[in-house]
Amino acid sequence: MSASVPRLEIKDLRRSYGGRAVVDGVSLQIMPGQVTCLLGPSGCGKSTTLRMIAGVEMQDSGTIHVDGNLICDTVFRVPPERREIGLMFQDFALFPHLSVADNVAFGLKGTKAEKRVRVEELLKRVDLLRFIDGYPHQLSGGEQQRVALARALAPKPRIMLMDEPFSGLDNRLRDGIRDETLSILKEEDTAVLLVTHEPDEAMRMADEIALMRDGVIVQQGAPYNVYTRPFDRAAVAFFSDANVVEAVVQGALAQTAFGRFLAPGVADGTAVQIVFRPQHVRIDFDRAGRGPNPTAKEGTPARAVVSRARFMGSESLVEFVMDHDGSTLRATVPNVFLPQPGAVMWLTIPRDRCFVFPMT
Ligand SMILES: Nc1ncnc2c1ncn2[C@@H]1O[C@H](COP(=O)(O)OP(=O)(O)O)[C@@H](O)[C@H]1O
Ligand SMILES: [Mg+2]
Repeated sequence: MSASVPRLEIKDLRRSYGGRAVVDGVSLQIMPGQVTCLLGPSGCGKSTTLRMIAGVEMQDSGTIHVDGNLICDTVFRVPPERREIGLMFQDFALFPHLSVADNVAFGLKGTKAEKRVRVEELLKRVDLLRFIDGYPHQLSGGEQQRVALARALAPKPRIMLMDEPFSGLDNRLRDGIRDETLSILKEEDTAVLLVTHEPDEAMRMADEIALMRDGVIVQQGAPYNVYTRPFDRAAVAFFSDANVVEAVVQGALAQTAFGRFLAPGVADGTAVQIVFRPQHVRIDFDRAGRGPNPTAKEGTPARAVVSRARFMGSESLVEFVMDHDGSTLRATVPNVFLPQPGAVMWLTIPRDRCFVFPMT
């Protein structure tokens, strides 16, 4: 088979409930060994998309291909158990009355000896071979999760569908299990579609992020690209806190207290929002009533007064009230930076870190 055939390809999937389009034309391709994260707020249609791919939900229209073969359209349908798709959900519930070995062997075919070989191989891979004859209740949450992963991978699925699989785990466990899961999935060369509403999880796990909203994918790309070239203000705000400065365009420029911003192709009189993340705000101290000199890259500094500063652990969050219009801006600074409320500072916005969007 050609290396360029996607392991999973969905085209224009649609599903409505009671006349409301919940999945409204979703298309995706995932190559073997690739992890794509379907990322979006709760209720945007992620799980419904996953269920259609798994075959437990029928689409109203659209097609699903695996390795170039049609597995489902509106007339033809391969049943779920024959799709060679592994599933992992938040409530991954192992069978409590079955041993770890029997849990992992659950979906396997073959002789007892063959099954045992595959079970041992997988438990070794998730580093739980010592529990092979134990029972789920003897394992921690993280260990149970790894058994569930072993169980899902045992029949060598071509595709793994994971629906918020880590959200039941406590924070300290989660990062380690995510990384471990990822390396195992990569070794198995499975195509993975991971559903999550957590940007951090998507950034950590994904080769590609598909940002979903109201039943459609609004943006798709490598995590770096989705983060640094967001599609709109909501896409910025989904990944981090966002500051917004409003302005009106004249001659392809938006004039603000922070200087001018390029707004190429935007018609005169259009209201725009200049959006930037708190970690990109530049803070300067007051120099006898003046800030730093304006620069081409950072524009004009604007005067601000500290209203609040909090230490967050790896960074400090500082809130400012802007002199020119009383608006609030937030800045984050690595480590400890805790100026007193009332302190005067000057803020600049690096032009290469901000986004200018026409107001909608
Ligand atoms: N079987 C169903 N019947 C009616 N509405 C449903 C059904 N399944 C999901 N929905 C609705 O579809 C929307 C999307 O649900 P879902 O795909 O679970 O979103 P997500 O996984 O992104 O949180 C929600 O508003 C949900 O209430
Ligand atoms: Mg869901």
